[in-house]
Amino acid sequence: MLSALRWRQVSAPGDDVVLGGPPSSVASQDIPDAMPAKLTPDQLAQLDVFAKSLDRDQALWVSGYFAGLAGGGAAAGVARQDDTAPQAAAITILYGSETGNSAGLARDFASRLQAAGIPARAVDMDSYKVRALKEERFLLVITSTHGEGDPPQSALNFFEFIEGRKAPRLAGLGFSVLALGDSTYEKYCEAGKRLDRRLEELGATRLAPRIDCDVDYEAPAVQWMTALEPLLPKDTGKPSAAMAQAAVAPSASRFDKRNPFDAPVIENLVLTGRGSSKETRHVELSLADSGLVYAPGDALGLFARNDSELVEVILTHTGLSGDAPVSRKDGETSLASALTSHFEIVAATPRFLETWAGLSDAAELRRLAAPENAAERNAYLHQHHVIDIIRDFPVPGLTVEDFVPGLRPLQPRLYSIASSLAAVPDEVHLTVATVRYELRGEPRSGVASGHISGRAAPDTTLPVYVQDNPHFRLPDDDAPIVMIGAGTGVAPYRAFLQEREARGATGKAWLFFGERNFRSDFLYQIEWQEHLKSGLLTRMDVAFSRDRAEKTYVQHRLKERAADLHAWLEEGAHLYVCGDAAQMAPDVHAALLSVLQEQGHLGPEAAEDYLRTLQRDHRYQRDVY
Ligand SMILES: Cc1cc2nc3c(=O)[nH]c(=O)nc-3n(C[C@H](O)[C@H](O)[C@H](O)COP(=O)(O)OP(=O)(O)OC[C@H]3O[C@@H](n4cnc5c(N)ncnc54)[C@H](O)[C@@H]3O)c2cc1C
Ligand SMILES: Cc1cc2nc3c(=O)[nH]c(=O)nc-3n(C[C@H](O)[C@H](O)[C@H](O)COP(=O)(O)O)c2cc1C
Repeated sequence: MLSALRWRQVSAPGDDVVLGGPPSSVASQDIPDAMPAKLTPDQLAQLDVFAKSLDRDQALWVSGYFAGLAGGGAAAGVARQDDTAPQAAAITILYGSETGNSAGLARDFASRLQAAGIPARAVDMDSYKVRALKEERFLLVITSTHGEGDPPQSALNFFEFIEGRKAPRLAGLGFSVLALGDSTYEKYCEAGKRLDRRLEELGATRLAPRIDCDVDYEAPAVQWMTALEPLLPKDTGKPSAAMAQAAVAPSASRFDKRNPFDAPVIENLVLTGRGSSKETRHVELSLADSGLVYAPGDALGLFARNDSELVEVILTHTGLSGDAPVSRKDGETSLASALTSHFEIVAATPRFLETWAGLSDAAELRRLAAPENAAERNAYLHQHHVIDIIRDFPVPGLTVEDFVPGLRPLQPRLYSIASSLAAVPDEVHLTVATVRYELRGEPRSGVASGHISGRAAPDTTLPVYVQDNPHFRLPDDDAPIVMIGAGTGVAPYRAFLQEREARGATGKAWLFFGERNFRSDFLYQIEWQEHLKSGLLTRMDVAFSRDRAEKTYVQHRLKERAADLHAWLEEGAHLYVCGDAAQMAPDVHAALLSVLQEQGHLGPEAAEDYLRTLQRDHRYQRDVY
């Protein structure tokens, strides 16, 4: 645990500041040894014996297995052959994922097929070589939808290719799509729908109908897998029992999304200072004895519990008893406990509205539930949560069996990890902004951030798992990095710098940070200043939007520093953007385009191409929400 004092806000008096430290000059003897030297002579000898025992196919499989382990941290226990050309009769499970759900399903499906003697590989769209498409015979696609009906970031290039004019005819291809989404979004499962449509247009044959999955995606996903499995050919070179077993070998930790670890809270402090318009917290959790590991860039999934007061109010207004039994997959529980830990009871979904329209027979709800009123329904749901609908439209004689099917399972919330295991072994740190708002004259708060803010004192526990994020990773130690983040978007950069410090990395680092007020919202100010002093952080530019009449955001700083920023990019810098997806990320993207046009003398299309190439080379990575 680090000293609590380090989180206190210590802002020196002043206006918007631009902090620029001296160029980093870390001694070369700090550079860690080259990779092979990390193996002990014993390990090398064992590797040699093992390698000699493998035939060609086994060697290929094992290389994919280790690539998977390296790419996904210890949580990945399944072979991944991420960019190889399809082998004869191999099944490719192509996934597009931003928060790991589709990736997890793709790996589960690959293991399941491998165990059944069907040669299958799970491949990230990000690393898929599109020219191999023509050689595929079976392409099973699992993709989520993000933004406002967009494909996941890592899948953008694949979508651009497949929807473009260069996409090949795919007459010999059998395919099926599993689309992940969230029915509260207007463009539900849109990315999956687009791929499903496009593959058919290209002449491929649909093996099984597309299944659209809401947030409780596990059962429909299994249904999709079960429908497809008998349609897929078994390979003559069936993997040995040992290989099949290895493919489904458990990960290093027994804790994951399905079995979260109850992490003790070590520290939970308010980072923002007095007078701030926000409450942003620094939270430290213990991972001791969990076996959980993470890499900088990963996120922590957290299963929050609902506020017990809200549970009571819902029980009162529905007239249901908290002791009433509710059956779940893993047995029976009480309604009070289910409402606390298993169901989303704050925001209402279209499913809840439809269920309640049926139960109450209220004309207004029936009208809103009609398919043609989607836009009005969404606006209504934004202003009316579960408790508001229950209060406004009472249902006499309601039963648990009526009520519960309308609720959706409580979803875990993700938080960017703000620490490095190299600096704080056995701990994980988060930077959490408390969501607070007023609805119908009442103060309300977000489920998870409200739990963290009000009910996560030291020594209580929070159920968590590690969500790997292979699309947000530090480059080689000597590569320059430019980190752009607003608000809690700064969290992963704290992890990046802790990691670089521990590794003695020599690469330059430049941080752009934005928040509202310098005095109260300069998150982790002392740490950045220490890093500037030590040279770990080469430069820092800050933008505080509410300190002046004229609003200043990180994108303005990017433009002001255009010449230097362009020089860094030309030197090979890796760009990172983290934080708000709705405003900041598009504005930063536009600012980067303008820097490239101005400094690189590029036209609008050439600037887009420049960024697209950076994205393809994993030099422009975004983690936005
Ligand atoms: C990859 C990733 C990384 C993330 N990293 C971080 C991080 O490092 N730090 C961080 O703080 N967050 C982070 N988030 C966001 C985080 O996961 C949660 O979404 C956030 O904390 C809100 O969750 P909650 O349960 O507190 O709020 P929820 O209960 O989910 O509340 C949000 C909901 O509140 C309602 N609402 C909000 N305002 C209003 C209003 N004015 N009127 C009516 N209704 C309203 C809306 O229904 C809205 O959907 C990340 C998200 C992702 C996907
Ligand atoms: C910021 C954000 C935006 C989203 N936008 C949509 C959307 O427009 N349509 C939709 O159906 N689902 C949307 N979703 C829901 C995701 O598709 C869903 O959570 C899915 O399970 C994520 O899968 P993944 O982890 O593989 O990315 C969104 C989720 C997030 C976090």
